[in-house]
Amino acid sequence: MKIILGVCGGIAAYKAAELLREFQRRGAIVQVVMTANAERFVTPLTFAALSGSQVMTSLWQPVSTDSEQSFDIEHIQVTQDADVLVVAPATANMLAKMAHGFADDVLSATALAATIPIVVAPAMNLHMWEHPATQENLEILRQRGVRVVSPESGELACGMVGAGRLADPSVIADHVFATAKHAQDLVGETILITAGGTREPIDPVRFIGNRSSGKMGVALVEAALERGAKVILVGASLAVPAPAQCESIRVTTAGEMETVVLERLPEASMVIMAAAVSDYRLMHPASEKLKKKSSLTLELEPTRDILRQVAEQRRAGTIVIGFAAETENVLEEGRRKLRAKGVDLIVANDVSRAGSGFEADMNEGILISHDEEQVMPRSSKRELADRILTWARSAIRARER
Ligand code: CTP
Repeated sequence: MKIILGVCGGIAAYKAAELLREFQRRGAIVQVVMTANAERFVTPLTFAALSGSQVMTSLWQPVSTDSEQSFDIEHIQVTQDADVLVVAPATANMLAKMAHGFADDVLSATALAATIPIVVAPAMNLHMWEHPATQENLEILRQRGVRVVSPESGELACGMVGAGRLADPSVIADHVFATAKHAQDLVGETILITAGGTREPIDPVRFIGNRSSGKMGVALVEAALERGAKVILVGASLAVPAPAQCESIRVTTAGEMETVVLERLPEASMVIMAAAVSDYRLMHPASEKLKKKSSLTLELEPTRDILRQVAEQRRAGTIVIGFAAETENVLEEGRRKLRAKGVDLIVANDVSRAGSGFEADMNEGILISHDEEQVMPRSSKRELADRILTWARSAIRARER
């Protein structure tokens, strides 16, 4: 889910930071748009740091594009990739602008250009809220399908008591998700997902393996299914059950995974290699159980890189996503793998951190593509899965354009 969060200039602007975090906790990617007055209450830096992306503060923001243009029509572009626009806090002034089609600042222009669902969460002084002008503007907006999250009653910043306080972040988030829960945004996509850790036999009872539990891959499968995709799961050793609604193919070794993945690749519009694939296998696995000796030397040979082959052999338009599990230089290694493997996105994470990465329920990392890098704060693997799929869905849409 990609949410545009429009922040207006009111005391409640600081609460938009908490709202942003709430959206992220629920797995959304957030792009913040601020009015000039909002900047008087909270700096764009706060929202940039929390959201991991640049905040839109002006209609005339120079952006770096690979075209010759020095300005991009960002306020139009941004709504095309998003699922919902929420204005919180929405001031009386912004509601008036939105109701009457003004577009003289970055947020009202974004709202006017938006063809996606819009939610407004007003916050203002009691008299401004009750003023017929505000109420009539809200009515106009409601009739146009804008969802209004009414303010709560309580003590207001101006010292008065009454309606005007910004609704609770979780209440606003419920409305936003209910409005945007469009649907299933991956209907028609076939996603090939690998998960778990491969095992390379040493002899009939022993193997070389790794600590991958398959939780991240399975979280991706669940999220993709919920969003309407058809999923082919190629699972190596998994510590969690595979969801029943996907086609689940079990493999053991890197070689088996390679065969299945390349065989099924033509069907896929997206491939996500979340599996931890062994980089080496035994040159000569023993056919009988090895007996204990004073020392043992295993001769290994490299396995072939499945992800690289997928990137090379994919049909045009197939999105390819890989993971980079690192213990040092996470960003640099992620960038290197993005280029070296020829993929569209690398999800780079630091597996040395306690409580995230292998076997854990939480994860954190950086989404690295060819034109952006998004820091993903520590969150559940399911939230992360949704962020990855939201990125992928945007990439598909961008290709279609
Ligand atoms: N991968 C793969 N085939 C392999 C090894 C890895 O498809 N034989 C995929 C993984 O599923 C993951 C990505 O490549 O999506 C990165 O895996 P990683 O082990 O981090 O990268 P390597 O290329 O093995 O690099 P290194 O071990 O040097 O860090």
